[in-house]
Amino acid sequence: MEPVERGKERVVALVDMDCFYVQVEQKSHPELRGKPCAVVQYKTWQGGGIIAVSYEARAYGVTRGMRGMEAQKKCPQLQLARIPQAHGKADLSKYREASVQVIAVMSRFAVIERASIDEAYVDLTAAARQRARQMEGQRVDSGLLKTTFVEGFSQNGQAQQSGDPATLKEEGRRAGIEAWLDSLPPDCDQNSPELQLTAGALIVEEMRAAVETETGYRCSAGISHNKVLAKLSCGLHKPNAQTILPMCSVSGLFDALPVGKIRNLGGKFGESVTEQLHIKYMGQLRAFTESRLHMDFGEKTGNWLFDLCRGVEFEPVRARHLPKSIGCSKSFLGLQALSSCEQVKHWLLQLATELEERLNHDRQQNQRVGKQLSVSVRLEGSGKSSSFSRCCALAQYQAQRIAKDAFELINGFNTAANHQTAW
Ligand code: CTP
Ligand code: CA
Ligand code: CA
Repeated sequence: MEPVERGKERVVALVDMDCFYVQVEQKSHPELRGKPCAVVQYKTWQGGGIIAVSYEARAYGVTRGMRGMEAQKKCPQLQLARIPQAHGKADLSKYREASVQVIAVMSRFAVIERASIDEAYVDLTAAARQRARQMEGQRVDSGLLKTTFVEGFSQNGQAQQSGDPATLKEEGRRAGIEAWLDSLPPDCDQNSPELQLTAGALIVEEMRAAVETETGYRCSAGISHNKVLAKLSCGLHKPNAQTILPMCSVSGLFDALPVGKIRNLGGKFGESVTEQLHIKYMGQLRAFTESRLHMDFGEKTGNWLFDLCRGVEFEPVRARHLPKSIGCSKSFLGLQALSSCEQVKHWLLQLATELEERLNHDRQQNQRVGKQLSVSVRLEGSGKSSSFSRCCALAQYQAQRIAKDAFELINGFNTAANHQTAW
């Protein structure tokens, strides 16, 4: 038996809920279903800030970050749902509960790593191998992959000249699936990595259908050989669709993909990569030798980048259904900026009260206790912003105590320290 090509050993999927907070609101307010709508927090100023947008509203140009009133100018029939409030701040508990329901359904299928409130990685290697064996060399029925796109194979369909965009897209998708299935060798070896991706996609179709039937929520997914490619491919076709990203389509995709679009390269580190190497796209990284990447980024990171730009990555999917930490925060922008110790103490107590509630709930649900208290402060000055973070032992699940400890942790940074009351 030939060894599996390096980087193609696993089948990994990323499942991400479509406009998640919107779907949660639509479930409890059925009149919003199928309509252009958005979720806002704090309806006070100009209709509140939008944090989630239905796909119907996206068609009108409504985006996250807009004010509700601004969005209603673009789309007059836009309906707004407001995030509940508690302790003077947004209360996300209904979205967290919905997330728990979805994770419960998904975890029946395979090993799940919860990655955020609305997404999870799935290691399908074992399940996909088993499914590939069961096929016994028979061609996969494309009717079982009815929401699946294959990157690099979907665009080449014999799309007709006329017709609406949705029909053309569906025709391209179907032609792509057939071309992909044709590309799998006849009497395909069950150990073929491409066959295993296809088997993984069959399982994800079933998983997504189960999520929708049992919770009412729709999601999208990416299926590939590792977490980075799975996450990237999930975003290629949304909503309510899934995308296989085979290794043979990686270089074509990476040639026009900005470095910052890749998992873990979206922030400062990704910027330093593009600046140091004078590049823009992921594919351009392939021009650099391993030793050059070692010189610029050290051996470990250099190796990682060398592999990554070729679509190869090995971070395991870790079995984890629960968040690692429980946190809450609030921003005070512009004129709302806190300026006295009293205000700082007041809001620390509000945050600590939410924390106490959620810690107690977590202890009851999950039989575990938190050990560390961490406090982060972000200061937005004129032009520059700075931030710091400090931690201490989490002594008790008690709001007053948490607020007091938190205040002491950050009090040393008060620039008005020699004044009695100012912050
Ligand atoms: N979210 C948020 N603030 C952000 C990013 C996300 O509050 N800066 C919330 C959104 O309200 C959202 C959920 O976290 O519903 C998941 O975010 P994301 O997956 O990025 O977007 P979705 O709204 O789910 O839309 P999509 O269909 O594009 O995934
Ligand atoms: Ca989402
Ligand atoms: Ca997400």
